[in-house]
Amino acid sequence: MSDIILGIESSCDDTSAAVLRDRVLLSNVTASQQVHKDYGGVVPELASRAHELNIVPVISSALEKAGVRASDVSAIAFTRGPGLLGSLLVGTSFAKSLSIALDCPLVEVNHLQGHVLAGFVRQEGVPVREPSFPYLCLLVSGGNSQIVKVNSPLDFEILGQTIDDAVGEAFDKCSKMMGLGYPGGPVIDRLAKLGNPERFKFAKPRVPGLDYSFSGIKTSLLYFVRDEMSSDPDFMEKNKEDICASFQKSLIDILMEKLVKAASQTGITEVAVGGGVSANSGLRDRMLSEGKKRGWNVYLPEFKFTTDNAAMIAVAGYFHYLAGERCPLDAAPYSRLG
Ligand code: KG4
Repeated sequence: MSDIILGIESSCDDTSAAVLRDRVLLSNVTASQQVHKDYGGVVPELASRAHELNIVPVISSALEKAGVRASDVSAIAFTRGPGLLGSLLVGTSFAKSLSIALDCPLVEVNHLQGHVLAGFVRQEGVPVREPSFPYLCLLVSGGNSQIVKVNSPLDFEILGQTIDDAVGEAFDKCSKMMGLGYPGGPVIDRLAKLGNPERFKFAKPRVPGLDYSFSGIKTSLLYFVRDEMSSDPDFMEKNKEDICASFQKSLIDILMEKLVKAASQTGITEVAVGGGVSANSGLRDRMLSEGKKRGWNVYLPEFKFTTDNAAMIAVAGYFHYLAGERCPLDAAPYSRLG
């Protein structure tokens, strides 16, 4: 008999609900919040209020699109953390109430685990192509940059992670500094396609092992632009494509250097990427070219699964559900890891 999983994601500024039949996607509905655009970043209080407004219509629409009644749901999977506490509270409270009302099991999911497992969501009519275990996942988002060794859907080892900023933050802060808006990644990605990635060089971090650091390169960009603009106030405007292309290439070089090291240290050739920054076209191209050169099998998520979505939460929840894990009703959301 198949299981119907309702996934709920509310960790940041997207309210999302998805329905899976086992691992097959029946619906995935996301309401993105436009209210933050004027502020250059997500405003936590506004985010939680918007989740409160969105959550009922989003879940109703996901069930309707899936052609599933609430009473058919076998388990509810929700993001318990990490993320913005006020945002997580909305999804967590709603998931708990619904599980009481429907008398159905509740399963908690770690948001990052959702990103890592996004590639296991299956879709009707789309050929199945999934990494075999163990595989390496480069997890790159606005809050995290990690290299994860995935031994099984529920057994992860973090081989390396950022010691300061996440790579998505570096994209966002660079964009803010250049007056290009928020979120920065998509804008920089678009401008980088028009520029010369070799034109400018930025300081690379020296961090031992498989860990990352992205705060130094951000400062390097800041000083570079400030110095150039002191002699030519139009420098940034005239060179924004080349600045974006060079900055993006430097970030990708940093990411890839450690990923290559992790692959050679572990001997693993199954390599995936996940998280918001995995939408970056430069990173995707580099993963493919590096994979070809090194004999890796590379797994890139579909664009719709790169940003926050409930399909990835539902699939991660499905694995927890099969393993018999259940979340108690007194579980509180958590904003940070560990
Ligand atoms: O995973 P995500 O949606 O949210 C969390 O942080 O959990 O990631 C958001 C991050 C933002 O920093 C955004 O700028 C970045 O993903 N991003 C991109 C691209 N699209 C989104 N970064 C680089 N290139 C992109 N095309």
